[in-house]
This record gives sequence, C-alpha cells and structure tokens, in this order.
Amino acid sequence: MEVRQISIREAKKRIKNDPELSKMLVRSGWREITLDLDGDGMADVAFASEKAGRKIDTIAIDLTGNGEFNLYLHDFDGNGIPDTVYIIEDGSEEISAIAFGGEVELGFVNLGVKIANLLVAEDFMNRELGISLADLNAYLKANAEAMLKEIEKREEAQGIEKVYYFLKDATTYYLATVDGDKPRVRPFGTILLRDGKLYIQTGKNKDVSKQISANPSVEICACMGDSWLRVAGELVEDDDRDVRVEMLEKMPSLKPLYDPDDGNMQMFYLKDAKATFSSFTAEPETVEF
Ligand SMILES: Cc1cc2nc3c(=O)[nH]c(=O)nc-3n(C[C@H](O)[C@H](O)[C@H](O)COP(=O)(O)O)c2cc1C
Repeated sequence: MEVRQISIREAKKRIKNDPELSKMLVRSGWREITLDLDGDGMADVAFASEKAGRKIDTIAIDLTGNGEFNLYLHDFDGNGIPDTVYIIEDGSEEISAIAFGGEVELGFVNLGVKIANLLVAEDFMNRELGISLADLNAYLKANAEAMLKEIEKREEAQGIEKVYYFLKDATTYYLATVDGDKPRVRPFGTILLRDGKLYIQTGKNKDVSKQISANPSVEICACMGDSWLRVAGELVEDDDRDVRVEMLEKMPSLKPLYDPDDGNMQMFYLKDAKATFSSFTAEPETVEF
C-alpha cells in the first residue's frame, strides 16, 4: 500500500490554493490544521504533526458532530498508515485503543488511510472514493458504528478469542520450534479462529514444517506496545481443505503464494495450549485451550 505523505506546510499551500478548502479552514497553526467540513462552524477534522516541519502523523475527527474530536489516528512509524486508532466514547473520559502495525485489514484503519489521502490528494477523493470533502463527515458517521463494534468485540473477547485478536492485531508473532537440540524462531503472521480452534499456516517445503513434524511442541510470542503474549502448546495438522480455503479468504495476501490444492499449503491448530498475557503494569493472565 503506497501512501503519499505531506507536511503541514505543504497542506497549508494546498488549502490556500483551493477555494473550497480555504472556506473550510478553521485554524492554521505551526503543527496543526483544523477544517470545518460541513460548514456548521465547528471543526470536524484536524491534521497535525508531532514536530513542526514533519509529515502529518495525526488525524483527529469529530464523528458525532458535537464539536469534539473523538476519533484519533496516529501514524507512529511514519509510513503514512495509522498504527493506532483511539475512539473516545461520548460523555466519557475513557479511551478505547487498538494498536496496529504494518499491513492491516480492518475497515477503520483503511478509513484512516483514506482520510490521509483526502488531504494529500483532493482529486484522489473525488476520483477514487467518489465523495466530496463535505460528504466526509457523513461517511465517517456511517462507519462509526462498525468501528465501535470492532472495538467492543476486542474488549469483550475472552479465552481463545482474546488470544486470536491479540495475535491478529499484533500482525506479526514469533514462532519458536525445536530442531534437534536447538531452538529456532521466525516471524509468522497467519492466524485463523475456526470452530473453536486457533490455526496457523505454513508451507510443507519449509524447515519450520519439518521441525513441527518431528516435534510439535512450539511457543509463540507477540508484542503490542508494552503488552506481550506467549502461547505454548502442541501443533496438530488439519488436512481439511475447507480450513485452507478459509485461511486464504481471511488473509488474501497469501493467495499469490498458496493454493488449497498445491500440496504445499499446510494448516496447524494449537492443542493443549497455555497462553499468558503479560504487561509491565498488570498481573499476568492465563488462558488454556
Ligand atoms: C511478517 C512476516 C510474517 C510471516 N508469516 C509467515 C506465516 O504465517 N507462515 C509462514 O510459513 N511463513 C511466514 N513468514 C515467512 C517465514 O518467517 C520464513 O519463511 C521463515 O524462513 C520460515 O522459517 P524456516 O526458515 O525455519 O522454515 C513470515 C515472514 C514475515 C516477515
């Protein structure tokens, strides 16, 4: 995914040169620009950068139209794609936060990318999204419910579901296997929850697959912010074609590499697993499945 990024100064220039955007300008600071998209006198969206002169790394949006920003998108690694989404629910001080990194599939992060694109290329919005700046607020409002549902799902998740969401949102975890008397570890990203089983995917032609066949004991480690998860267990192969098909549907980026009938794609689920959620600030929590 390629995202063009601009600085606050470049954004100001664009706004200055565009009469429609100029009309929406509420505030133009060293590190932030605020726009009123629907002309109701209240700011609807703010673009900011941590330091003056840097690329825009924060977008704040008023989803409810009450004049307060309640959706925040932060791009920590500077790749133009938001890594963290915060939603502050109405009337509460509480923040719901979900962190992402790298390649993301969730709707509201893609939405964030669209918002970034709105500013970097107004023509992108009209041509590719078919919406005008004035429509943006309505668009965000329409999507807010789905965004909040995704957040609720994670907050309510227990047991194996909680493990699944952690691994999915971390986007990368590290899988350790045993190779004779040596440990081996490598990055993995595939994860699937199906019929109460947590699956990972690999290729039979890889050393990792051979190591699992010889010794199915593995450990997984993933990290998000200052929280980490370790899952120790045994991997069991599942040769059901439907599982391979669902994996490819859920993670389409695998499609150029694997096919359910290629004789290589392989699915394993975790058995007798013990998952431990840890952080610097809370007691560890253990889940067994
Ligand atoms: C972010 C990331 C995610 C990956 N996810 C997977 C995966 O889910 N399954 C897989 O087989 N390989 C995955 N790979 C590739 C493996 O890490 C790589 O093939 C590794 O060499 C396999 O271990 P081995 O050499 O011991 O067989 C991923 C690589 C990266 C960088």
